[in-house]
Amino acid sequence: MATRQRPKRVPIREVLKTAIDLEQKTMELYVAFVHAFPRPEEVRNFWFGMARHEAGHVGALTLVDAIIKTDPERVEDTRVLFDQGTITRLRALLRAYLREAQQGVTAERAFEMAVDIEASELEDLVVDMLSVVRSARWRERAVQMLIHDLGDLSYMVERHTKNEDLLRRADELIEQRRGGLKARARVARRRRG
Ligand SMILES: [Fe+2]
Ligand SMILES: [Fe+2]
Repeated sequence: MATRQRPKRVPIREVLKTAIDLEQKTMELYVAFVHAFPRPEEVRNFWFGMARHEAGHVGALTLVDAIIKTDPERVEDTRVLFDQGTITRLRALLRAYLREAQQGVTAERAFEMAVDIEASELEDLVVDMLSVVRSARWRERAVQMLIHDLGDLSYMVERHTKNEDLLRRADELIEQRRGGLKARARVARRRRG
């Protein structure tokens, strides 16, 4: 039986490649949905927006990587909370979903996949890593965009499916993310004094 691993604080450089890889795979899945759902236009645009934002996360992490490479001392001790179990599960999920998407999925199933993926803690890890850039405003904006995306996802589920359970899950994600933003803003205010 596999032993359950607790989340650990690990140096950012150790998990950066993994995070970039998972963000890229998420982007690929959303791009597959752009092609799979050309109509109605608002659904296509939704998937295109989701793919673009994952591309933005890849870009942001590449920036973090550059900062670490140019100023290794400053970031030597910067650690993030990393849960190997979460990452392993998400990797397996993305692999299975990319395969399933190639076979063709319904719009409802695609939304369900997005809820599953956005519910994983990958985006929290990404937001944590952005702290290396030391721009609280940039980081808050990234979180606000995540909330905006989840709002769109919930709207899509409501408009294009009759799946109440999925809608509830999508709405819960928004609430969780909002709670996280408030907590972070409190910490930032305290730091600024
Ligand atoms: Fe992302
Ligand atoms: Fe995402």
